Amino acid sequence: MGSRRIDIGPINAFADGEVRRVEVEGRGLAIVRQGNAWYALRDVCPHQGARLSDGRVGGTVLARRPGAEIVLARAGEILSCPWHGWEYDVRTGRSLCEPEKVRVRTYGVRVEDGRVVVELA
Ligand code: FES
Repeated sequence: MGSRRIDIGPINAFADGEVRRVEVEGRGLAIVRQGNAWYALRDVCPHQGARLSDGRVGGTVLARRPGAEIVLARAGEILSCPWHGWEYDVRTGRSLCEPEKVRVRTYGVRVEDGRVVVELA
């Protein structure tokens, strides 16, 4: 079975730097816009099922070593779950806590003629 391209609306319906839920063929997607970059993730947290679209797009805190000063990094690349704060890379859907085991499905998304189009497998 091939993939399907679904129009989810005009680009100006999506605020820059934020996440918004859309429903496509019965499934919820969390759409993240970062300027001209777009990301689509399944809108279900693998932990306990919260809607990731109710979460926040931002960065994460990192320290180079235990006890070192912490810094905010990866601004705009991380989607945080609203319930318990698990963090996901918007580009890959991989969690920051266990990237090989805990991940959210991602979908292709792009702009065509001013419209946002997602690709469902
Ligand atoms: S439901 Fe997402 S971190 Fe718990």
